[in-house]
Amino acid sequence: MRTYLVTGGAGFIGSNYIHYMFGKYGDSIRIINVDALTYAGNLENLKDIEDRDNYVFIKADITDKDAIAAVFEQYDIDRVVHFAAESHVDRSIKDPEVFVRTNVLGTAVMLNSAKASWELPDGTFKPDKKFLHVSTDEVYGSLPEDDSAFFYETSPYDPHSPYSASKASSDMLVKSYMDTYKFPANITNCSNNYGPYQFPEKLIPLIINNALQGKKLPVYGDGKNVRDWLFVEDHAKAIDMVQEKGRLFETYNIGGHNEKQNIEIINIILETLQEELPDGDERKAYINKDLITYVEDRKGHDRRYAIAPDKIKSEIGWEPETMFKDGIRRTIKWFFMHEDWMKNVTSGDYQKYYEDMYSNR
Ligand code: NAD
Ligand code: DAU
Repeated sequence: MRTYLVTGGAGFIGSNYIHYMFGKYGDSIRIINVDALTYAGNLENLKDIEDRDNYVFIKADITDKDAIAAVFEQYDIDRVVHFAAESHVDRSIKDPEVFVRTNVLGTAVMLNSAKASWELPDGTFKPDKKFLHVSTDEVYGSLPEDDSAFFYETSPYDPHSPYSASKASSDMLVKSYMDTYKFPANITNCSNNYGPYQFPEKLIPLIINNALQGKKLPVYGDGKNVRDWLFVEDHAKAIDMVQEKGRLFETYNIGGHNEKQNIEIINIILETLQEELPDGDERKAYINKDLITYVEDRKGHDRRYAIAPDKIKSEIGWEPETMFKDGIRRTIKWFFMHEDWMKNVTSGDYQKYYEDMYSNR
């Protein structure tokens, strides 16, 4: 039975990936989920799978060398899928240090522990061991506004936020392990994800949550920054395909030519909410464009991201399957059906974060 070590599996993409993998492979794989359960990690995301015999949760910090070494000692790990990170750009602007610690030092610890466990006395590695580092398109910086330029795997790194700088550093560490030790790894750089279980500090769930409560919808700057949106299940599938069909030591960009301005996204959410709420629901009266509020721009706000997914398509045969209009409807319905989830994650610390972050905007 192949054993996966997933880091950050209690977060947004990690939990969707674990669901995807059990849906695809059932009892033929085992998943060890290592997560520190920061504000962004939520075991409720994995409630439906927590009793499986082939699933283990370990609460540990990826910067804790001894704890991570112990996981590799206890389990014969075949695949590492490394999601754990501090992931929110706005938080990185306020408090960069934890981003360096988790994203850079944490990745170094993961690499070192996997290397120590997988390396043979002659410096080669045990067969069929693979490490996949989950990264972001933000490492490539910002594209011009016209839609003729894209991020390719060969695009130069040009990170602007402390978050993207820390992810770029972690990518470089992975590259250095591949170059120096022939460490068996891949890097994936993906565009913006959306879907179930996304923490409501990110644009799409924040707008859905605020609109449902009749709160202001904060738009940074002129609302015309462009992001390239991908349904999270499509990302999960791509990660699995890269790990099983990709060439080792390669980087693959993941995205689906679904560029939209932030203001377009907000308008689509408002329209879809109106369509999905039942007749007579009192929230229909206040969910409209009057909630949109332009606020102070994000510092160093990248203007446009857009992935060229040519390599993953031609080499591996991956293409996104979910159209945005369907994915956003599924996401909104999921949030309708999980109002308790939203209440739980927005209580306490997040409430304080929200007040701090938006009080001057
Ligand atoms: P998230 O913030 O929802 O989840 C991060 C998870 O990592 C949480 O469960 C958290 O508890 C855990 N974690 C944080 N610090 C840890 C530590 N020190 N030790 C152990 N666990 C820790 O993030 P996400 O949006 O699911 O992103 C997952 C990965 O995908 C990240 O590496 C991110 O850079 C990358 N990525 C995200 C997107 C996106 O749109 N969200 C796009 C491309 C790439
Ligand atoms: O591109 C991949 C990246 O996408 C990931 O690496 C990051 O982990 C993930 O957080 C995401 O980063 P962004 O900064 O693009 O996502 P966010 O949801 O924070 O913002 C999306 C856009 O919406 C961005 O242009 C800023 C804008 N925005 C965001 C928020 C939270 C607003 O206008 N208002 C808001 O309240």
